[in-house]
Amino acid sequence: MTAPTGYPELDALLPRIDAIPNLAAAELDEAEIALVGRKAGALTAAARAVASRAPEERRAFGQAVNALKTATEAAVAARRAQLAEAAAASERRAVDLTMPARRRWVGVQHPVNAVIDEIGEIFRALGFTIAIGPEVETEWYNFLALNFPADHPAMDQHDTLYLDAPRVHETPGDGKLLLRTHTSPVQIRVMQSSPPPIRVLIPGMVYRSDPFDPSHAPAFAQVEGLAIDEGISFVDLKATLTHFARRFFSADTAVRFRPSYFPFTEPSAEMDVACQLCKGLGCGACKGTGWMEILGCGMVHPNVLQCGGIAPERYTGWAFGMGPARIAMQRHGVTDIRLLYEGDMRFLGQFARGGA
Ligand code: DAH
Repeated sequence: MTAPTGYPELDALLPRIDAIPNLAAAELDEAEIALVGRKAGALTAAARAVASRAPEERRAFGQAVNALKTATEAAVAARRAQLAEAAAASERRAVDLTMPARRRWVGVQHPVNAVIDEIGEIFRALGFTIAIGPEVETEWYNFLALNFPADHPAMDQHDTLYLDAPRVHETPGDGKLLLRTHTSPVQIRVMQSSPPPIRVLIPGMVYRSDPFDPSHAPAFAQVEGLAIDEGISFVDLKATLTHFARRFFSADTAVRFRPSYFPFTEPSAEMDVACQLCKGLGCGACKGTGWMEILGCGMVHPNVLQCGGIAPERYTGWAFGMGPARIAMQRHGVTDIRLLYEGDMRFLGQFARGGA
C-alpha cells in the first residue's frame, strides 16, 4: 500500500497504483499510460500543475507527485518483468522432453523398381541399352504395327482404355489414342529410330481395363526386350533368356519354354522358371506345378519388322515381355498385387534396407 500524501487529488490515484502488481499485460500498458503517460497521464498532469499551486505548497506537492511517479514506474517495471518471466516459463513447459521422438522418414526403393533395376543390370552387361516410349499411344503402334488383326478382341473397349481425344495423324501411326496396353509398341518406335543391330530393354507402365483385384491391376509395370541383327535365331533367344533367369534367380534355376501365341512373334513361347518358393516341388504359389511363368517371348514377326522399317529378308530378331510385379510378388511371398500398386506406406516401408 502506498502511503497517502494528504492531497486528495493525488490520494485518489492510490488504488490504481496499488493495483499494478496484479494487472495483466494489456491492463498494465493502459494503467501506465493513464498514470505516467507523457501526454495525458494523471501524475504527469499533476507535475505540470505544481507551478500553479500556492508558492508555499509547491515544494511539498512536487515531492509528493514525484514520489508517486517513481513508485508507479517501479511497480510497472517490476510487474512487466514478472509477466515476461511467467510467459517464458510456460513456453518452457510446452516443450515436453518426455515425448517420443518422431521417426526419421527413410525413402526406400519400390520393390517393383528394384526388380526392374536388377533386370536392367543383367541385360546391360549383355550390351543392351534402355529405351522408353510414350504411355499414350496410337492404335497403330499399340496394335496394328504389331500384327494384331483389326478385329482382335484386345482392341475392344472392354480391354483397352481409349482416350477421348481427337484422332492424331502421325505417319504412319494415325488412329485412335489409347493408353498403351503393353510396352511392345516401343519396339516399333526403336526400329523406326535406330538401324540394327538393336539391343534394347524397355521398362514402363502399361494400362488395361482390368479390375483392381489380387491378381490384376489396371496399371502395372512391364519390361520388354528386343534384339535385332543379321543371323539372329531362336537359339539366341533361349540362351539369352536362360542366362538372364540364372543370373536373376540362381545359377541352378531350371527353365523351360512352352509354345505359345502372340501376334507379333512367330514362333512364340512362354518361359517358366522353377518355382522359387518350393524349388520345383509344387506348392500353393505355383499351384502345385513346380513352375512359374515369368515372360512371353518369340521371334519378331516379319510383318512387325516391316512396320518398323526393317527388311525381314536381311534381319531377324527376338523379343520378350515380362511383368516385374509378378517377379517381386514371388520373391517376397506377396499374394495380392494391389499391395504393390496402391502405395500403402505401411507395406512399402518394410522394404527399407534392414527391414523385413
Ligand atoms: N506384349 C505381351 C503382353 O503384354 C508380352 C510379350 C510377349 C512381349 C511376347 C513380347 C513378346 O515382346 O515377344 O502380354
